[in-house]
Parts: sequence; C-alpha cells; structure tokens
Amino acid sequence: MRKKLLSEGSKEFKYEIREIVKKANLLKSFGLSVHWENIGDPIEKKCQLPVWVKDIVADLAQQNRSYGYCPSKGILATREFIAEQTNKSGGVQITAEDILFFNGMGDAISTAYQLLDATSRLIGPSPAYSTHSSAEAAHANTEPITYRLNPSNHWYPDLEELENKVKYNPNIVGILIINPDNPTGMVYPLETLKKIVAIAREYKLFVISDEIYNKIVYNGARSYALAEYIEDIPGIAMKGLSKEVPWPGSRCGWMEFYNRDKDPEFNSFCNALDNAKMVEVCSTTLPQLALPLILGDPRFETHRTNLNERIGKRSALINSILGEVPELTFNPTFGAFYNSIIFKDGVLNNSQTLPISNPKIKEKVEEWCRGVSSDYRFVYYLLGATGICVVPVSSFCSDLQGFRITLLEEDEEELRKVFNTLRDAIKEYVRS
Ligand SMILES: Cc1ncc(COP(=O)(O)O)c(C=O)c1O
Repeated sequence: MRKKLLSEGSKEFKYEIREIVKKANLLKSFGLSVHWENIGDPIEKKCQLPVWVKDIVADLAQQNRSYGYCPSKGILATREFIAEQTNKSGGVQITAEDILFFNGMGDAISTAYQLLDATSRLIGPSPAYSTHSSAEAAHANTEPITYRLNPSNHWYPDLEELENKVKYNPNIVGILIINPDNPTGMVYPLETLKKIVAIAREYKLFVISDEIYNKIVYNGARSYALAEYIEDIPGIAMKGLSKEVPWPGSRCGWMEFYNRDKDPEFNSFCNALDNAKMVEVCSTTLPQLALPLILGDPRFETHRTNLNERIGKRSALINSILGEVPELTFNPTFGAFYNSIIFKDGVLNNSQTLPISNPKIKEKVEEWCRGVSSDYRFVYYLLGATGICVVPVSSFCSDLQGFRITLLEEDEEELRKVFNTLRDAIKEYVRS
C-alpha cells in the first residue's frame, strides 16, 4: 500500500469473549471437549423461547411488509409503544421522536462513539464491557478512561475516583453506566445512580446508561432505569431485545434520548445520531414489528420472571460452590447473567500450572502462556486441562486478575459438574 491503512484507534478493538473461541476451537480439534462459559447468548446455551413468541415471529414472517425497509428512526407504532412504556415509570417523559432504532446495541454503541469529537471522552466502568471501551478508545485513538468498580464493595462504582477523574479531565463530556452490569452481574442502588447524575450535573456532562439487562434481575433486586432518576440532565438510555426476550439474533436495539431540549450541543448529538442512521437507511424491520407484540403480551412478564428465577437459582448454586474459596474475592450476583471472580492479591504467579495429558494441547497452552498476564495464564490452563472456557477479567479493561463466567447453563447437573470442576481446578492451580 502506498500509505498506511489503519487508524491509530483500530488497535483498540479487542473482544476477548470471542477471541478465546478461536483458541478453544483449536483445542477442540485436538480432541478437547469444550464447555462454553464465555458468551452471553442464552439461545446458544439452549434457552427455549416459548411457542407464543415463535408464533408471533412466524406470523410476521408470512407478511410481505416484514421484508421491506422501515423508517430510519424505526417503525412509528413501535416507537410509540416504547415511549408509552418508558413514560409509565413517571420519570422523564419522551415521545416517539426521542427514540432511534439500531441493528442491535453493538451498532448503537459504535455509532455513538464515532460521532463524538475525538477529544471528547466518555468515562466508563472498569471492568468494562469491551464493546463500549473499545469503541470509546478507538474514537479517541488512545486507551479508554475508566472509573473503578470495586470488588471489595459489592462491585459498586468508586464514586470518589469517578468525580476526581471528571474534575481533573475537562475532556470528559459524559459518564457511561452499565446497569445491571456486564461483566460483574451487579445491580446498583438508586442512591449510587443519583450520585452519578449529581456529578454529571455539577460538571455539565451527559449520561449514557446501557440497560440491555434492565429486566434481568433476581434475588430480590430492583433495577432502576435512567428515565427514573435522570431528572433534567441530558442522557441516553440504550436498550434492546437481545437479552430480555432473549433474541440476540434479532440485531434489534434502540436509544432513548432524554432532555434533548436542555442543551443545544446534546440536541445536535442526538440529531447527528438520527442522521447517521438515515445515511444507513434503517435498522432491521421484522424484530421492530414483533417488539410490541412480544413485550406487550401479558405472557411476557411471566416468561421473564421464570427465566429470572432460573438465573437466580444458578447464581445461588454457584455461590455455594465458589463463594467460600479463600483465594477468591467472590460477590453474589443480582442481575444480568455473569459473574466476575477475582483472585486475591498475591495468589497467582507465572509458574502455576494444571496437568494436561494430551501433549498437543499442553504444547499449545504453554505457547499461549508466554508473556501473558496471570489471569490469562489461569484461563488457558483451565481450558486445556478441563475444557471450561471462561474470559480473563483483565481483558475487560481492568488491572484485576480473575475470570468471568456466565449463569446460563440450563442443565443443573451439568452446571454443578462444571462449577465443581472449576473450584477443584482453582485449588489445584493455586497450590501447584
Ligand atoms: C452490556 C452490554 N451492552 C450491549 C451488548 C450488545 O447487545 P446487542 O446484542 O444488542 O448488540 C451486550 C452484549 O453482550 C452487553 O453485555
């Protein structure tokens, strides 16, 4: 090439949740039986959608209009339905004009960061869901700016650090909240969320709240949506069908703009998002037609409650297996379907191993472990020795050393087996 092709920011795109799949598949080709604990796709983990949901989709698939483009902002009746749902909370009030559809939240996230000026930064949580942190870092051509979620304080945000970083970095224009959170499975108290909004108010920032797991709570938790506590601060809630229906293959998500009228710069940002989608034409049509029929069906709440109870039961089972391992900092989860489990300081080193009998697998694992951080080393040995595929926490933009698991295994016996094996592997690894 006569000139370099890649932008500086392109190296910031990292997604270990899928990167590890390449390694696991290679080991699978050497005969390893892999248990996938890496990806948050309930369908992949055999969650069965109820027949009434499939009937709605099948019926729409018979209708010709499902195959056409739709309005760039999204189907009006669907946006009206969503606005009505949001307004019911009694917080900030919106209209269909404040809603913009995307091809999944992944699309919403990358479009939002692309449109921000390169010097304007969003501060987000660490550990961070990689789609946000990578897109933010890529737009700014440098590393993400983060505030710490504290594993020794229920994974709640370190508000003092957040405020200090905002105060001393005038380039920060917005705060990202992920609630319930991926990768920690934590749900934040209203008080914490209100304090974040207070910081936004003081420093004239906007707030983005990723609420893709908003309806996925259990163990008595209640998840507050941005609309309920944002008051008069400009903000964007990001929501979608992927996890709550669950229907990740729909590639259907949307943004809700709050308080556009309160700040002209923020209003221009929302207009630019509308225009960016217009240039792309529109987002997926059929899932938008299905949305009010599924979420508005009286059976939806029972369906979601059942799924949540099952996730809650798995969370409790995992607590009982891993909660007492002395080398770990373990927090019970309350929302979403992940848990990030951290090794206490000084537990890991770079000579620990697990026995691997297959010489080809052993050789690969040893090769991958050269020069990596200590949680990657654990993850590779765990994979090679047991077939359990988890994601290292340090890949979520964090200095912590640990691993993320999912709470999605439908078969209780299998769940028990996998987590007992994981616990035994941890014990053996840290003592090796
Ligand atoms: C916090 C969070 N936001 C967004 C997404 C992406 O959602 P979508 O399937 O709508 O692109 C995920 C997917 O795992 C997620 O965990």
